[in-house]
Amino acid sequence: MKIAVGSDHAGYELKNFVIEWLGRNGHEAVDMGPFNDDSVDYPDYARKVGESVAGGDCQQGVLLCGTGIGVSISANKVKGIRAALACRPEFATLAREHNNANIICFSARFTDRETIARSLENWFAAGFEGGRHERRVNKIEPCC
Ligand code: RB5
Repeated sequence: MKIAVGSDHAGYELKNFVIEWLGRNGHEAVDMGPFNDDSVDYPDYARKVGESVAGGDCQQGVLLCGTGIGVSISANKVKGIRAALACRPEFATLAREHNNANIICFSARFTDRETIARSLENWFAAGFEGGRHERRVNKIEPCC
């Protein structure tokens, strides 16, 4: 699968870990930056990843920032994006099964590498369950 990956400066180091993990596990990672750990603004990179997934260039995305919150909020502003912050591996499974999430977000400051790797394993192993979850996901729309 082609996966867009982005971060801010806080997530830069773990972004490289994610890109390596994706390559080792049979995915094509598309690095959307940043390309060093100079201070940057997370919405710029979340938008790049979001537009790449929403536009169909990449099937899914991974985003990282200090807490994972900034990139989640930002990516969810792109129409068609359902970005989920995974604090533990079970969140990754449920984000795919129940929310049909298409971007997984991590906190680089509060999540260790093992948790990220296990979350990515779960993410790619899980699929959207549909049914009652489809009805709910279809209700996620801007309302004002
Ligand atoms: C950057 O210092 C920090 O604000 C950012 O990485 C992120 O945590 C924002 O949500």
